[in-house]
Amino acid sequence: MRSDKVAGPRQGSAPFLRWAGGKRQLLPVLARYWNEKYKRYIEPFAGSACLFFHLAPAKAILGDLNTELIGTLRELKMNPQGISARLRQLRKGREHYLTMRAIAPASIPAPERAARFIYLNRFCFNGLYRTNGTGRFNVPYGGEKSGSLPATERLLACSLLLKNATLIAGDFEKVLERVKPGDFVYMDPPFSVKARRVFNEYDKSLFSFDDVVRLRGWMEGLAVRNISFLVSYAESDEADFLKGDFHTEVVAVRRNIAGFSDKRKHSRELLISFIAGKKRSKGAV
Ligand SMILES: C[S@@+](CC[C@H](N)C(=O)[O-])C[C@H]1O[C@@H](n2cnc3c(N)ncnc32)[C@H](O)[C@@H]1O
Repeated sequence: MRSDKVAGPRQGSAPFLRWAGGKRQLLPVLARYWNEKYKRYIEPFAGSACLFFHLAPAKAILGDLNTELIGTLRELKMNPQGISARLRQLRKGREHYLTMRAIAPASIPAPERAARFIYLNRFCFNGLYRTNGTGRFNVPYGGEKSGSLPATERLLACSLLLKNATLIAGDFEKVLERVKPGDFVYMDPPFSVKARRVFNEYDKSLFSFDDVVRLRGWMEGLAVRNISFLVSYAESDEADFLKGDFHTEVVAVRRNIAGFSDKRKHSRELLISFIAGKKRSKGAV
């Protein structure tokens, strides 16, 4: 029988994608909530999955509503060399970016499709993912300074770490339904409608207050089953609603408001946690 689990010591990696709302700058703080005794690492709002790649857990489930993203992770898991070879064939620059953007992803083979996703992610404006009414990616070109494509070594390292992960495309509940005692769940949902007016980072259709209410219900259910979790959320009315009487920590983050560097400023993010076996409101790490 084939096993997806990789034996031996594992080394973390930087993520291979840039992601609006990504948590790279908070990694040292977030990592304190994890320990190797957990049976599995579960992340239902994976995005660039930077905490997963940083921690390199032995077993994981990653999910996201973004099917192109999950398709890319699946292909990277199986075929990093194929993706890398296709990426090296792609040219830089606005014109080529627009040509790549115009391709219907379903019309091309899986390695090309994953390479296209990584290419557009790297050169689009601010690492945003936004689609139009017909589901077509429509983020403008990010300019010459938007960075360089991930090196083959990075793709190989991420691929190796993904061998330990089950990948699920769909709503976060689909992932949470699989959580068991002994797991650790990290949830980093998009900011909902109200907070997004400030941060302006996501497609309107993505996360509503109803979704926040659903998430709150799941947090309650996990705590009742004594399952550890960590939720990160921008300080807001929704965050107050989510935190209830769970333990919270407030951290400062640099945010790129509306994508303009002169409007970068600090904002505060709430880390809401429940740690199995600890008292609910004192579940400090
Ligand atoms: C803030 S980002 C996660 C960023 C990630 N922590 C990182 O460091 O890159 C939120 C993610 O949730 C996904 N998402 C939005 N609504 C969702 C839903 N209902 N279920 C699952 N994922 C969802 C988005 O596609 C996005 O990738």
